[in-house]
Amino acid sequence: MEKMRKKIVAGNWKMNKTITETLSFFDEFSKLYDELKENQAEIIIFPPYTSLSILSEKMKNYGIFVGAQNLHEKDNGAYTGEISASMIQSAGCNYVLIGHSERRHFFSESNDLLNQKLKTSLKHKINSIICVGETLSEREAGNHFSIVNKQIKFFLKDITPDQLSKVIIAYEPVWAIGTGKTASPEQANEMHYEIRNTIRNLYSDSIANNISILYGGSVNEENSGILFHQSEIDGGLVGGASLNPKSFLKIIQSAN
Ligand code: PGA
Repeated sequence: MEKMRKKIVAGNWKMNKTITETLSFFDEFSKLYDELKENQAEIIIFPPYTSLSILSEKMKNYGIFVGAQNLHEKDNGAYTGEISASMIQSAGCNYVLIGHSERRHFFSESNDLLNQKLKTSLKHKINSIICVGETLSEREAGNHFSIVNKQIKFFLKDITPDQLSKVIIAYEPVWAIGTGKTASPEQANEMHYEIRNTIRNLYSDSIANNISILYGGSVNEENSGILFHQSEIDGGLVGGASLNPKSFLKIIQSAN
């Protein structure tokens, strides 16, 4: 079947940028974006919570989406320091990142918890980027395919075929995140192929062909073009390089 997936470039700012810094990013980025002749890629930025509202308001006119880096699995209640699905939506955002490796490793988010978070997000009809990826020792032991498949299966437990239209997968090998060490285009492509097959087995051919799978881990303006043009790679989740408007824009251009 002809693939119909459009390219997606997402920027994950992590715990970076104050509101003032967010506004300077916007000023520079919007000028550069205006100069772009054409852009077919969907762009999503994940700033810290404090910038969600202002950035989504500003980006609206550009057709650029803004999302949150996490959400709590409960709708509301006594969960000091947490953010709910409806809070994210009330800030004008309709995207969320779930299960980033930093959430799994520094905040001990388990596969089971991530499944609950995804259910909550989809109940609220929020588009969800679910993150999976193996550690270096898992890859060296040759377990990378089975680890990632297991993460996908846990994530998607009880998720219906209809709900999958709001799910995007990000494959981010842990050893490539923030290390300057990228998976080779072949390594990334073969993992994406494997993930798509898992989706095919769990759901159907057409769902597997339509779901977007992004690569993340030290994506920059030099390596993005070759990565994004692999047959199974539908774009990227970019950390460090998304903080700089010029680099982020070059990465977006390379997706076209
Ligand atoms: P990086 O981060 O591009 O800085 O490696 C990617 C991510 O964590 O999403």
